[in-house]
Amino acid sequence: MPFFFVEIKDKGKMFVEFLLLSVVSTAVGLQVSIPKAVYEVARDDNVTLPCTFKPAKPDNPMIVVTWTALPLSGTADPVPVGTFYYPANYMDIKKEYTGRASMKVDIPAGKTDLILTRVTLQENMEFECDVKIPGDDEGVTLATTRLVVLVAPSKPMCKIQGTAEYGQNINLTCVSAEGFPLPAYSWQRHNVQNIPQPLPPKATDNKGLLSLYNVSMETSGYYICTSQNKIRSEICNLTLTVMPPSMNIGSTAGITGGSVVTLLVLLVVIYCCC
Ligand SMILES: *[C@@H]1O[C@H](CO)[C@@H](O)[C@H](O)[C@H]1NC(C)=O
Ligand SMILES: *[C@@H]1O[C@H](CO)[C@@H](O)[C@H](O)[C@H]1NC(C)=O
Ligand SMILES: *[C@@H]1O[C@H](CO)[C@@H](O)[C@H](O)[C@H]1NC(C)=O
Repeated sequence: MPFFFVEIKDKGKMFVEFLLLSVVSTAVGLQVSIPKAVYEVARDDNVTLPCTFKPAKPDNPMIVVTWTALPLSGTADPVPVGTFYYPANYMDIKKEYTGRASMKVDIPAGKTDLILTRVTLQENMEFECDVKIPGDDEGVTLATTRLVVLVAPSKPMCKIQGTAEYGQNINLTCVSAEGFPLPAYSWQRHNVQNIPQPLPPKATDNKGLLSLYNVSMETSGYYICTSQNKIRSEICNLTLTVMPPSMNIGSTAGITGGSVVTLLVLLVVIYCCC
C-alpha cells in the first residue's frame, strides 16, 4: 500500500514506468500474432487463418491454444471453435464446427492454424487466436483477425421496361439477386451476327439501368449485361426486337375480327333457335 501512495504522488513518473514496463514486457513475454488483419474467402470455399506464437521460454510443460469466433454484433456471445492441449496433443472441436473446422498445430514451430471448410455467410466475423502458457501471461497472449465472406454475383435478371415500339423510350434493367461486394453492372450490345456494337446514340447506362431513347429497328439486337464483383462475373442476354407501332394495331384488328365472328355465330344460333 505505501508503494501505491508513492506512485500516485508522482503521476508523471508512474506513466514513464508504465511505458517502460510495457515495452520491456512485450519484448520478453509471449507473442501471439496473425499476419493479416483481414482474410477474404468466397462462400463455400475453404480458408486457413494462420496464427503464430513465440513463448518467453523455449521449453514449456503445458500450452493450450484456442480459436474463438467473435460475432460482429456486440450482443451475441463469442463461440469457441476449437482448443488444442499440449502435451496431451488433444484437439477439441466444438459440436457446431465438427467436420468443418480443424486446427493445424505445430508446437515446436509456434504455429496454430485454423482451417474452415465450406465457409458460410455466418462466418463473416472476427476470429481470435488465444495461447495460454502457465507462467507466461505477459506480452501479447491473443490476436484477432476479420474473416470477410464474399459472394459471387448470381445470374442477373434482365427485363425490358416500356413498349419496344418505334419512337418509344424504354429501359433495360439488370439486377443480380445476390453478390458481395455489391456487383457492378455494365451493358453491351451485339448485333444479330453477334458482333459487339456501340450502344445506340443517347443511350445511358446508369448502374445497370440502360435507358434507350426514340427506339427504332436499328436499336434491336442482343443486349448483354455483365454483373461483376471481385470474385466472378455473370451475364444475362436479352433479345430486344423493336416493332413498328402498326403491329399493335394489327393485333387489335385481330381481336376485333374475332369478336365479329363470335357475334355472327351468336346471330346464327339465335336465328336457328327461333
Ligand atoms: C475444401 O476442403 C475439403 C476438405 O479438406 C476438400 O474436400 C475440398 O475439396 C476443399 N474445397 C476447395 C474449394 O478447395
Ligand atoms: C426519332 O427518330 C426518328 C428517326 O428514327 C426521327 O425522325 C425523329 O425525329 C426522332 N424523334 C425525336 C423526338 O428525336
Ligand atoms: C445471346 O443470345 C443469342 C440468341 O440466343 C445468341 O445467338 C448469342 O450468342 C448470345 N450472346 C452471348 C454473348 O451470349
